Amino acid sequence: MAKAGPFSRAIVAMTGVMPRWFVRYISRRYVAGASLDDAVRVMHRLTEQGACFTVDVLGEEITTLDEATFFLEEYRRVMAQILAHGFDANLSIKPTAFGLLIDHETGLENIRRLVKEAAEHDMFVRLDMEDHRVTDATIDAVHTLHAEGLTNVGTVLQGRLHRTLDDIDRMSEQLGPAADHRICKGIYLEPDSIAHTARKAITEATVACVVRGLERGAYVAIASHDDAVIDASLTALKDGGWTNEEGHDPRDPSPPHRQGKGPGYEFQMLLGVRGPLRRGLREQGHRTRVYIPYGEKWYEYSIRRLKENPTVGAQVAKAFLMPWTNRP
Ligand code: FDA
Repeated sequence: MAKAGPFSRAIVAMTGVMPRWFVRYISRRYVAGASLDDAVRVMHRLTEQGACFTVDVLGEEITTLDEATFFLEEYRRVMAQILAHGFDANLSIKPTAFGLLIDHETGLENIRRLVKEAAEHDMFVRLDMEDHRVTDATIDAVHTLHAEGLTNVGTVLQGRLHRTLDDIDRMSEQLGPAADHRICKGIYLEPDSIAHTARKAITEATVACVVRGLERGAYVAIASHDDAVIDASLTALKDGGWTNEEGHDPRDPSPPHRQGKGPGYEFQMLLGVRGPLRRGLREQGHRTRVYIPYGEKWYEYSIRRLKENPTVGAQVAKAFLMPWTNRP
């Protein structure tokens, strides 16, 4: 996403006066609902479309460590439901919701507890990437947990950041084929001293990160709805000798087997965004994972997303006003 234009800024300015019911009406496409039962219902529906999932309990930076307990408990409930229903699903967590910015050691310990419990069920945990204040701490957390033998954890790397190609190299050196990245453009509008800010540059940098991750032997989750990123990734996969067969990874050594993962890569999309594109990729034989956010904090989440990156507002408005351009 590039710099916000006047339309995007106008949408953000309007968020303050939008009635709550209207925000709910719009956001129900992008948020499974307020409760875990809602998320379960959505996963049942999308399982029929051949999708697998990563579940996000809404809520981000917390102000007291007590609040982290809520997230730990709620993710335990999510894990139990995934197992009870036999979903092909893993977890996405926000490190700051576990306390990483308040107290690094306690935050890390909270994350460790969840990752350990997930490991007992062969379940993967993705540390979502937040803004640049936590990039190092999040990557360090992955390194620390892998060093302790917990390899069912990986993070997200943002193509827009200048540092990301180096991060991919460093992580590959430390983690080898156990490195597992979700690569996306990055939603946070970072300053131009550390990030690309023009749309074309962000897109090209993101593609470069996907290619680098594949070349370095990592498992790569390509998280984008942008045709340019997806087409370039498909070309890179073809050039790298991938066929769409599950289990086939032409690299040597190929990443180790992970429960519920594809052959070295997968595509990931947000709930409610570009469903036909996702289903098309699935029909071509690619593993596709849908990001399922749910929780009481749906209102705060929706408003924050718009404010963090005003171009999201334009995309949501376009999908609402011109539904034929972007079906769920
Ligand atoms: P782009 O923004 O160009 O979107 C391409 C097209 O997709 C748009 O033209 C529009 O049609 C549609 N679209 C995209 N977003 C939409 C929306 N919200 N509503 C309606 N239509 C939309 N970021 C981050 O910083 N940390 C993270 O941990 C994650 N995690 C994550 C997980 C998954 C599964 C995905 C798909 C994305 C993320 N992101 C993220 C967000 C990511 O960084 C990026 O901001 C968005 O994916 C939008 O970028 P695209 O590559 O989709 O391109």
